[in-house]
Parts: sequence; structure tokens; C-alpha cells
Amino acid sequence: MVNTKMNLCGIEIDNPVMPASGTFGFGYEFAELYDINVLGSFSFKGTTLEPRFGNPTPRIAECTNGLINSVGLQNPGVTDVIGQELPKLAKCFNKPVMANISGFAIDEYVEVCKQLDKCDQVGWLEVNVSCPNVHNGGMAFGTDPKAAAAVVAAVKKEVTKPVIVKLSPNVRDIVAIAKACEEAGADGITLINTMLGMRINLKTGKPVIANKMGGFSGPAIFPIALRMVYQVYEAVNIPIVGCGGVSTAEDVIEMIMAGATAVQVGAANLVNPYACRDIINDLPAAMEKYGINSLEEIIGGAH
Ligand code: FUM
Repeated sequence: MVNTKMNLCGIEIDNPVMPASGTFGFGYEFAELYDINVLGSFSFKGTTLEPRFGNPTPRIAECTNGLINSVGLQNPGVTDVIGQELPKLAKCFNKPVMANISGFAIDEYVEVCKQLDKCDQVGWLEVNVSCPNVHNGGMAFGTDPKAAAAVVAAVKKEVTKPVIVKLSPNVRDIVAIAKACEEAGADGITLINTMLGMRINLKTGKPVIANKMGGFSGPAIFPIALRMVYQVYEAVNIPIVGCGGVSTAEDVIEMIMAGATAVQVGAANLVNPYACRDIINDLPAAMEKYGINSLEEIIGGAH
């Protein structure tokens, strides 16, 4: 019997697999398809202080081995997330959930984090400084070590739950940003959000996406995510949540060997809503195939 348990920032999870933010709604939508308690956890849709309608459509462009999205942080705002979404989730999920928080100013991050920090259902605060689809927020904080650190430090002063900062791959030096976040008090790091990309519609001669560009995700970015997890693992002493193009149990194992303690699955949920359940089911056999008894023992094993 293999051991898939992990400990993420002091919270034990049955397995490392968790749907990534923006690909699993607030969870209860998927509970109509399967028992989502099989998940290690999941990260819910990026939440802002005020409700957001999101970007104009089209917001999605299909690509070889992935897709581009420019959703624009559509969400009902933190008051409704706490008052409407989390109570619905409580009826079908009995594990700690990861709250994904976005903002346009440091004060906004702090306020949303403070409110979600008080929710019993929330295990971790995933501070998203990496959304590529909004102006003057999101990725603007995550592409500069000082700005990212300033968000982390401000949030950490006001909350009690572990703060995991989600970083952007659209940077020159991911290690410098990760280290700045660790020094500012981050309890963990999620790597990576989407890569800025675009497509052009040959019939119209214009960008497919109304916002012109968007975040590219899917299997094509897996090697980039893996490389960043590997590099950051060598530089920090806090846990890493690996994310980016993961679609099989073998990908999960690879991410853990690179240095991840938990592994998020994103675009795969949009192709197959059962993707996370299937990966979790496949994980024990994949571990046996490679002679792995315990996932915890292979964290960073490739170094
Ligand atoms: O556009 C979006 O809502 C995407 C968010 C993100 O990538 O963090």
C-alpha cells in the first residue's frame, strides 16, 4: 500500500492533487459529477474585493497542446464568495480549501485575505500576483521582487493562515521573486500561472481574444513549470505547489521529484472534468511502477 499523504504548510492532505484556481469554480459544480472529497484540496476561483464581470468575449483560444484564456478574474466578490459560494461548498466538501485572492492594490489583497482568513473552510490563502489578464493588478505585482514581497508582507501582518503566493512565469528571474516572497514571510509558493500568449484569426486577420492576449496553459507549458519548480526548490526552504500543464499521475510524480509538495491541475479539468479524479486513481499504480512507497520521501528527489 503506497502512501500519497503530504503535509502542505502544516495541513495534512490525503494526496497532493488539487485543481488549480479558475478551472474548478467553487467546487460544488464538480460535485455533481463525482465525490470531490477524493481531492487533496482545490483552489477556488480568484476572488477580488468587488464583484467582477470579467473581460469581453471571446476569452478563450484553443491551441496545440493547450489553450489561452483571458477571463479577467470574473467572480462574485468576496462578500458573495463567503456568503453564497462557501456555504454551497460546505455541503459537498469536508476538507480545507485553498482560497485564491487577486487584487489591484495592496490594500485590496489585505482586505480580501483578512475576510477569507476568518472562514473555517479555508486552509490556505493563495495570493495570486500573477494573473496576466487584468491591467494595473495581478501580474503587475508578480513580475517585480519588491512589489511581490510588499503584497506578501502586508498580507502576512493581518492573517493567521498559511500564505502561498502564486507566481508568474512571465519574468526574467523567477528565483529572485520567489526568494523575495520567502523573505517577506510567504509560507509557500505556487509555480506557475499561465504564460502570456496570443492567436490570430486568419479569416478576420485580428487577434482571436477580445483582449488580444491571454494566459496560455496546458500540457505544452509542463516543461517550463517543471523547470521553474526545480530552480526555485534549490533557492527556498518553503513548500512549492507545482502547477502548469499537469495532466497525468506521472506528471504529478515528476513535479514532486522537481520539488513540489502539492500539485495543481488546471487546463486538464477543462478537457476532462474527471481529470483530477482519474489522476488520483492512477497515482498508486504509477508510484508502484517506479518503486515509490511514499510521495513525501521523493520531494525534490531529482536534485
Ligand atoms: O483571467 C483570469 O481570470 C485568470 C486568472 C489567473 O490566471 O490568475
